[in-house]
Amino acid sequence: MLPAGTLILILKIAVVAVTVLLVGSLTALARGNYTLHGRINMAVFALTMTALLGLEVIARIISPDIFNDHFERYDAKSALRVHLCFSLPSAALLPLMLFTGLRRRRSLHVPIGVVFLALWTGTFVTGVFFLPHDVP
Ligand code: HEM
Repeated sequence: MLPAGTLILILKIAVVAVTVLLVGSLTALARGNYTLHGRINMAVFALTMTALLGLEVIARIISPDIFNDHFERYDAKSALRVHLCFSLPSAALLPLMLFTGLRRRRSLHVPIGVVFLALWTGTFVTGVFFLPHDVP
């Protein structure tokens, strides 16, 4: 098993990659290419859910203590709590975004999208800049 600090570094890279994809999907949207917007966001959905499920399996089933010990060692438990206030709701909105996008329910998709973008910005800033990682 990789150490917690390395796992966090990998997750940060995944968050940056998803953000690049999101910016691409919004650029496609601004240019009126809804199909490309949808395709890119299916990748966003798959990547985020895979990372989240992987993290859950590691953090709760395989080694329930590794993240606890890591954040305690860095005295960063409150940084993690703040990060979770953004990341958990944004992850919960993602399936709704996919569903409403695929159904072309624009009157739901766009307002939820605005909330999602605000939460994602918080997830990015608190995750990438405030959570402690280790470089192996
Ligand atoms: C973050 C802000 C977002 C905004 C403002 C936005 C906006 C839109 C708009 C205006 C459409 C066209 C709807 C229509 O045809 O009536 C659309 C389509 C779509 N969106 Fe989004 N979206 C956002 C994020 C997302 C996310 C995060 C996902 C998936 C996780 C997503 C998935 C889709 C899909 C699958 C479509 C259908 C594409 C198609 O017609 O082939 N969107 N979106």
